[in-house]
Amino acid sequence: MRVALACDHGGLPLKQAVKEALAAAPSEVIDLGTDSPESVDYPDFAHKAVELFLKGECDRIVLICGTGVGMSIYANRFRGVRGALCSEPYTARMSRMHNDANCLILGGRVIGPGIAAEIVDVWMRTPFEGGRHAARLAMIDGLPGKIKDPSNR
Ligand code: RB5
Repeated sequence: MRVALACDHGGLPLKQAVKEALAAAPSEVIDLGTDSPESVDYPDFAHKAVELFLKGECDRIVLICGTGVGMSIYANRFRGVRGALCSEPYTARMSRMHNDANCLILGGRVIGPGIAAEIVDVWMRTPFEGGRHAARLAMIDGLPGKIKDPSNR
């Protein structure tokens, strides 16, 4: 599985642990930055990952900012992106089983590397249950206001 990974300066301290957990999943990680502690704008980095995903160049997205909130708001504006902000493994597991989450968002100032690695591990290996949950997702994907074309943000 190919996973696009992006963070801002608030997410940078967690990135290495997340990268290692993704590699162990195993998955191919496409690291889109940032790589420096200098302040950057999280929408720019979320966008790099969303763009790859919507072009079909990766299967999943992992985003990290300070709280995970900004990245989460951004990613969920796009049709077909189902982002789950998780700070413990239970939500990560359920986000796969019930929501078919294809984008995991973490808060680099909220959780530490150990919990982050557990979240990534469970999120990567839990399948979607389908059935009634698929019908509910179909109700969300077509909502007006969701952006279809990533070049049109
Ligand atoms: C950056 O200081 C911080 O605002 C950002 O990482 C994120 O937490 C926003 O939601």
